[in-house]
Amino acid sequence: MSIRLGDTAPNFRVQTTEGEIDFYEWMGEDWAVLFSHPKDYTPVCTTELGAAARLKPEFAKRGVKVIGLSVDPLEDHQGWSRDIEETQGVGLNFPLIADSDRTVADLYDMVHPNADDTLTVRSVFVIDSQKKVRLTLTYPASTGRNFDEILRTVDSLKLTSEHQVATPVNWKHGDDVIIVPAVSNDQAKQKYPEGWREEKPYLRYVPDPSK
Ligand code: BEZ
Repeated sequence: MSIRLGDTAPNFRVQTTEGEIDFYEWMGEDWAVLFSHPKDYTPVCTTELGAAARLKPEFAKRGVKVIGLSVDPLEDHQGWSRDIEETQGVGLNFPLIADSDRTVADLYDMVHPNADDTLTVRSVFVIDSQKKVRLTLTYPASTGRNFDEILRTVDSLKLTSEHQVATPVNWKHGDDVIIVPAVSNDQAKQKYPEGWREEKPYLRYVPDPSK
């Protein structure tokens, strides 16, 4: 069954490179980015795990934990993590799920048989502290993901959770944001007494309220 935005993220108990975890317990009060890799000892995945490890402090600053998954056994993950450290200049600093029986891959619909009937696609799930799925991405095995973009989506999701705003095309932290249509001008006057930049009645910009 596919997982859609707003669904509750299924819980699971699995072996990882950091021991056995219960996903919900491991998340605690934080958000999580859960992402799958097609296979251990593969080149694109190696670069992605290095990028995710480098960005871990940025995710942590935002109250977000990262966790990877591959449908290979723990022994393979352990050997591969040495290669990641050697080639990417940074070691795995978050858990990598050993999902050789595909428990999690099946729960999260990460195997797309018409793309490949054994390997997982490159799935990303951003899950909030209430365990709701807030964002999903799906890439094919041959296209490495952009982890800066995943971080950017977290910034947008956190901002839009806390303020009644949306983020425009190519937005990044600190750029102006959009007042959502559900907020009337009268309500906007209360929230933004300094006013807003109105390009159309439905296109109203204010500075990033988190700045
Ligand atoms: C890779 O990570 O490089 C990869 C994995 C599976 C298929 C193609 C590429």
